[in-house]
Amino acid sequence: MPTLDDLRSTVMSAAQGAMTLQLAYIGVTNDLFESLARDGSASADELAARAGVDAGYVRRFCDAAYAFGLLDARDDRFELTDLGHAFRPSTRGTLMPFAVQAVLGAHMAERAAGLMKTGERPGESVLAERATVLPWFGPMLEASFAGLFEREIVPWLEVYRDLEARGGVAVDLGCGNGWYLRKLVARYPHVRGVGLDGFEENVRHAQAEAERAGLADRLSFRTGDIHHFTVDEPVSLVAMNRALHHVWDRREKVFSTLRDAVVPGGAVVIWEPSWPEDRASLRDPRRRGMAFQNLSEHVQGNHFLRPAEIEEAMRSVGLTPRTHLFAEGAEAVVVGTKA
Ligand SMILES: C[S@@+](CC[C@H](N)C(=O)[O-])C[C@H]1O[C@@H](n2cnc3c(N)ncnc32)[C@H](O)[C@@H]1O
Repeated sequence: MPTLDDLRSTVMSAAQGAMTLQLAYIGVTNDLFESLARDGSASADELAARAGVDAGYVRRFCDAAYAFGLLDARDDRFELTDLGHAFRPSTRGTLMPFAVQAVLGAHMAERAAGLMKTGERPGESVLAERATVLPWFGPMLEASFAGLFEREIVPWLEVYRDLEARGGVAVDLGCGNGWYLRKLVARYPHVRGVGLDGFEENVRHAQAEAERAGLADRLSFRTGDIHHFTVDEPVSLVAMNRALHHVWDRREKVFSTLRDAVVPGGAVVIWEPSWPEDRASLRDPRRRGMAFQNLSEHVQGNHFLRPAEIEEAMRSVGLTPRTHLFAEGAEAVVVGTKA
């Protein structure tokens, strides 16, 4: 049996972990870490001037980031530690998503705490309640999942080899910042991509990133609602990545639309966190985050899905489903082929 002192020391290190992430969030969202990496060590006042932010805040931030091992100090000059470097958004395999999730998670926890009495579920607008978080939502998802997609999912799934052979148009519904289509068309020169998202800001961001990557001639993004999506040309593949749980309430119509959108022999590819059949596996460190996020999905009017439910919805519209699990079972890609 752990003593209260044992529990106190466990909780204290968890609390300090949270503070590390909160500080990392400030460093990431104000470009402070990138600035130190790009232009070298700086006093707090120099760093503030470089980043175009307030020196008083930066002085306090630097002391705190030093205390938590994100910055080192020599005399009055600060530089990044290895940990600080790891949070830079441009670092390969960056830890930035943990910082963004920590702050978004705190916001969602506060909302859930307040809403629990009445049961009110305000919907997806809660994501926009924190102005500094919103622009980091797309980069957070890209940094969290694009690597897994390229390393494990694309090489493993036959549906992508079929797409390469067939060419044509791939559609991404609920495309966010468009990272999925960027990766896809960069890999397959005969594929074009069309992305749709309900948030106008996401679409602008997706278009800008496509231009930056030199892929804008084969990618187009538009604002629109998945429920009113229509195709104007034959589509080889329709993907929804972490978007199906947003429209699950109206799944019958959504799945008919998906089925009708693809050509015979084409595929519908749904990627969702894999909600487990048994509660015990939620204790698995790979799935704990999903359990927490499901509470924040509830605030937004959504919930996570079991792969068997997605398969069932595919069968109900005549698609032939097959589930593939990744990330030790935490991520499910369900491929539905159209005969
Ligand atoms: C969790 S994000 C996933 C974004 C992206 N697919 C990714 O994996 O990075 C869900 C996205 O679905 C979009 N979305 C949700 N409901 C939608 C709807 N009814 N019509 C269009 N987009 C929607 C949201 O705006 C958001 O960008």
